[in-house]
Amino acid sequence: MDGELLKAYRRKRGLSQDGFAEMLNAKLGRAYDKAKVSRWENAKEPVPDPVADFMRRGTRTRARIIATANQKGGQTKSSTALNLAHAFAMMGKRVLLVDADPQASVTLAAGVDLESCMANGNVLGAVLDEKKSLRDIIVSVNGIDVAPTDITLAEFEVSVLSKPGPEKRLARALSDVRQDYDEIIIDTPPHLGVLTRNALVAATDILIPVVPAPLDVPGVPLLLRTIEQIRIYENPDLNVLGILPNRFEANTSVQQATLQQLLATYADSVRVFEPIRKTTAMDQAVYNGVIAVRALPKDNPVVIGYLRLAEEISHEA
Ligand SMILES: Nc1ncnc2c1ncn2[C@@H]1O[C@H](COP(=O)(O)OP(=O)(O)OP(=O)(O)O)[C@@H](O)[C@H]1O
Ligand SMILES: [Mg+2]
Repeated sequence: MDGELLKAYRRKRGLSQDGFAEMLNAKLGRAYDKAKVSRWENAKEPVPDPVADFMRRGTRTRARIIATANQKGGQTKSSTALNLAHAFAMMGKRVLLVDADPQASVTLAAGVDLESCMANGNVLGAVLDEKKSLRDIIVSVNGIDVAPTDITLAEFEVSVLSKPGPEKRLARALSDVRQDYDEIIIDTPPHLGVLTRNALVAATDILIPVVPAPLDVPGVPLLLRTIEQIRIYENPDLNVLGILPNRFEANTSVQQATLQQLLATYADSVRVFEPIRKTTAMDQAVYNGVIAVRALPKDNPVVIGYLRLAEEISHEA
C-alpha cells in the first residue's frame, strides 16, 4: 500500500486529512492525527498494516461475490473474470476465482494444472455433486486461488436437475469459504442454464461484459430480466455492478454508435463503465500462458482498463 493510493482513497471520499484520521480512529480504535496521515501520503512513513487492511477490505468480513454474466457467447466474461481477479490481487486482496463454465476457459488461462486436478477428482462438478468440499479443490496459482472445472460439469448440469436444490448448490459451497477472501469472482457459461443460475443465486454482484456491437448489445435486456426474476424468487439483494463494454474498437463508427446507444439506454438505470479497448495483445497473452493485466506493459489499454475497473468497484461494497 503506498501513499499515493491512500491519498486517492481519501480524496475520493471527500475527506480532509483530519477527517480521514478521525474515521480511522473510529473504525480501528487508534489515535492517528492529520500529521500522521500527511506523513503516510508523502511516503515519509509506511502506511501501517491495519490501515492498509482497512482500505482493502472496508468493514466487510465476508467476501463480495461478483459473477461475470452474459448469455451471449464471446462477450469477454472469462477474460474479465480472470483479469479482474488478478487486478484485485495486485491491490493486495485475497481472491478466489470460481470457474462455473464447463469450457474451463479461466481454469486453463489462470494456469491451473487441470490434468492433475481431474486425476484427483478435484473439480467444481464434484463440489456441486456433494462429493468434495470447495476447500478440497481450491488451488493457488500466480497469486490467486482458483476453483477449477472441467468438461464433466456439462453432464452435471443435466443430472443436477433431478436432485434437490439444483440452483442453490454453488451458494451453499461458497458459504464455507466466504470469510477467507475479500473478493470471489465467478465465471459463467454463455447461456442462462442451471450453472449461470447457480452463479446468480450465489452472487452479491453481477458484472455484465458486452462487446459494443449491434448483434451483441440486444442480449443485455434478457439478462437484466433474468436478474430481476432471481431477485424476486431467490436473491433479493443481488446488485448489478454495471455493464462493461469490452473489446471496444474506438476507430469504428458502428461500435462508437452502439456504445452511445448503450449509454443512452441505461443512463438512468444501470451504470456503464469506461470501455476496455480491443487489443491483439489479449489473445497473445493467453497464447503465451500469462495473465494480461500482470504481464502486459502498464500502458496497454487492457491493463489500464482492468486496473481502473478494479479500483472503481473496489470500495463499493
Ligand atoms: N480487450 C480485448 N481485446 C481483444 N480481444 C479480447 C479482449 N478481451 C477479450 N478478448 C478475446 O475475446 C475472445 C472472447 O473472450 P472470452 O473468452 O473472455 O469471452 P466469453 O464471454 O467468456 O466467451 P464464452 O461465451 O465462450 O464463454 C477471446 O479470444 C479473448 O481473448
Ligand atoms: Mg467464457
